[in-house]
Amino acid sequence: MSDSSYALLQAQHPYIRRRGRTTKSQAHALDALIAPFRALPEDIVQADDSRAVGIEIGFGMGHAFFDWASSSQDWRLFGIELYQPGIGALVHRLHEAQLTQVKILELPAQSVFAAIADESIDEIRIFFPDPWPKKRHFKRRLIQPEFVSVLARTLKKGGILRIATDWLAYADWIRQCLAAESRLLCHMDNIRAASAPGVDGVRELTNFEKRGERLGHDIHDMVYVRDDAADGHDRDSSD
Ligand SMILES: C[S@@+](CC[C@H](N)C(=O)[O-])C[C@H]1O[C@@H](n2cnc3c(N)ncnc32)[C@H](O)[C@@H]1O
Repeated sequence: MSDSSYALLQAQHPYIRRRGRTTKSQAHALDALIAPFRALPEDIVQADDSRAVGIEIGFGMGHAFFDWASSSQDWRLFGIELYQPGIGALVHRLHEAQLTQVKILELPAQSVFAAIADESIDEIRIFFPDPWPKKRHFKRRLIQPEFVSVLARTLKKGGILRIATDWLAYADWIRQCLAAESRLLCHMDNIRAASAPGVDGVRELTNFEKRGERLGHDIHDMVYVRDDAADGHDRDSSD
């Protein structure tokens, strides 16, 4: 991918926040340490590599993603984010821990997924995506019927999609979008009161989850599985 086409993709979805106050160590990571962690969409699927592939979209400050990387060193993991202080913070930690199997894509998730081959991803995680609560901003929401269809297309049969949000109206929107996608079956839909302890064992509390708890929001955790037969494509014609 040329520098100019990369810049064009980066410029899409201009409402995604990229800049913020950056600490010295984040700035150093962005400047001097990031190169070995950078990836392009075409690096995600490698025909000659049998390791499982996982992607977290919008990792923010990277806490949950770092945990996933530490506990799944036999996976190839890709984090998608544009927020520079978060990318710097994650790169700093990955460098310190020498977690070299992890790569970062500084592109909107929509353009990354458009380039991913069918049935190639084992797990996709989306934790606390921006809820865009105003009606005139609904189009900015990451979860849209078209994007859900792309997620379903790129997941392997049996692959997992995890989504969490603390925003009730967005949770209902997500449920609605997912219900319309026949290839993805709901495997878990858990609602935890803000005051209740712990998470589902998959992630540490994320920054935005803590914020939701402070606001007294329930936490909605959903798991969908790409089902072999749900869309009918794999059914034997004699069924
Ligand atoms: C509300 S924050 C949640 C961050 C983190 N997952 C957490 O729970 O603390 C949403 C993040 O998604 C990122 N984001 C939003 N839209 C995106 C997109 N289309 N592609 C990649 N990242 C996106 C934002 O930059 C932001 O850091």
